[in-house]
Amino acid sequence: MASATIIADRDFVIDRVSPRVFGSFIEHLGRAVYGGIYEPGHPTADRNGFRQDVLALIRELGVTVVRYPGGNFVSGYRWEDGIGPSEKRPARRELAWMSTETNEFGTDEFVDWCRLAQLEPMLAVNLGTRGPAEAGDMYEYCNHPAGTALSDLRIANGHRDPHNVRLWCLGNEMDGSWQMGAKTAQEYGRSALESAKLMYYPDMNRSGTDLFKPEFIVCGSSGRGMPTFGTWDEQVLEQCFDKVDYLSVHSYTSPRNADPLSYLAFGDTTMGPLIREVTAICDAVAAKRKSSKRVHLSYDEWNVWRGDEAKPFAAWTKAPKMLEDVYTLADALCVGGMLITLMNHCDRVKVACLAQLVNVIAPIMTRNGGPAWRQTIFHPFAAASRLGRGTVLRQVANGPTVKSGSNDINLLSSCLVRQDNGDVTLFAVNRDLEKPLSVDIDLRGFPKLRLANWSVMDGDLAEKNTEAQPDRVKPRSHKAAAGETQSSPVTVTLPKASWNVLEFAV
Ligand code: AHR
Repeated sequence: MASATIIADRDFVIDRVSPRVFGSFIEHLGRAVYGGIYEPGHPTADRNGFRQDVLALIRELGVTVVRYPGGNFVSGYRWEDGIGPSEKRPARRELAWMSTETNEFGTDEFVDWCRLAQLEPMLAVNLGTRGPAEAGDMYEYCNHPAGTALSDLRIANGHRDPHNVRLWCLGNEMDGSWQMGAKTAQEYGRSALESAKLMYYPDMNRSGTDLFKPEFIVCGSSGRGMPTFGTWDEQVLEQCFDKVDYLSVHSYTSPRNADPLSYLAFGDTTMGPLIREVTAICDAVAAKRKSSKRVHLSYDEWNVWRGDEAKPFAAWTKAPKMLEDVYTLADALCVGGMLITLMNHCDRVKVACLAQLVNVIAPIMTRNGGPAWRQTIFHPFAAASRLGRGTVLRQVANGPTVKSGSNDINLLSSCLVRQDNGDVTLFAVNRDLEKPLSVDIDLRGFPKLRLANWSVMDGDLAEKNTEAQPDRVKPRSHKAAAGETQSSPVTVTLPKASWNVLEFAV
């Protein structure tokens, strides 16, 4: 059997994991909103039309932040269409996804829904077909307390208190030719800067403390494969460095893109380098200014996007079935590896959004009028969000590698998180498709360890969950858990092609 070692020390840490790394995304796309989180008349819907069965799964998933309303959608969105009395809201052609948008659900409903779901709203403004003035208006509507036309309009619409939304995305994927109102880096950087200026005026109290400081996310290049990648990020940041807090990065993968092993290693081979490259650009822009400010990363779209669905879809209908990928166990292993990459880069990735949340390339599926269920990728996300809260230990991992193209792929992918009570969780994927992997875990500075729980996902990699069999793929308890207290190193054998969560009580 092949073997690997992981060495870590209690006091050698990368950083704390920001809870915002366990975010997700709801776009006006397909059945994400209508038939997903919102379905008046559904047996579980409350008086606002919010599906309670979906909300229960979202809470179980452990989502902390949700980005809204897009995505590509936001680049043509008129936010005013989605406020005020529902019967007066206009239906419009939605050009990003060729649907009809009725605007029944808008910003106020979204913020109400976030409060009910106990998660943080993250709003995007349209910097495609619109610009700084409209962004400033939307900000005033949402966050200004009272006494101005737009804040009073919010109050008249039933929201006395400001929404106090902190996270604001300045547009979406603005270097993409598919984006309505796509821009050059010069055009966009300027628009982002002016938007941030019009949205936020420091709101000081008498002692000079800022009462409410929003955080701005500026669009990085929409993908590592873009010709604009890198140059765009630098040119945009050169213009708005002083005003923004995060640079966004996006990436998706598909089993169609690679051989099975390379597919599972996407987190290591693509996301990790992407994070390090974009971080270097942020720091280079800071260095030129001799600035100690650090622009962090918002990885606000990431997932497996299988792209299996039959086309064409029904154009100009309301909430058509679109991008409803049905995920396999292999996809869950890939997503597990991506989560490990995000956590291991917790010193620079401070926000991340699994794209998306319900029905559209999502961990949760629903049927209109019917049930909601967990896809395979639900499980690694839920485990990471529950047990990945704490400090990531800096590990030295050595294990077998396999050559694939220009990459040496590590068969082991792992991350160690020390919780605040001192317990340690190991997240690990054994990517060996044929054989188990023996792993020596040498946790220095932890005199005694007890493997209290070990949950595994393994088996037939093509297996899926469906409405008829919603729990076919789910974690099982490994029999080696709840063992004796031992001294480090501890040796465990990870089953072939598996996602593992090992909880050590110390
Ligand atoms: O998540 C689906 C789409 O992917 C988003 O609308 C867009 O931002 C990205 O290209």
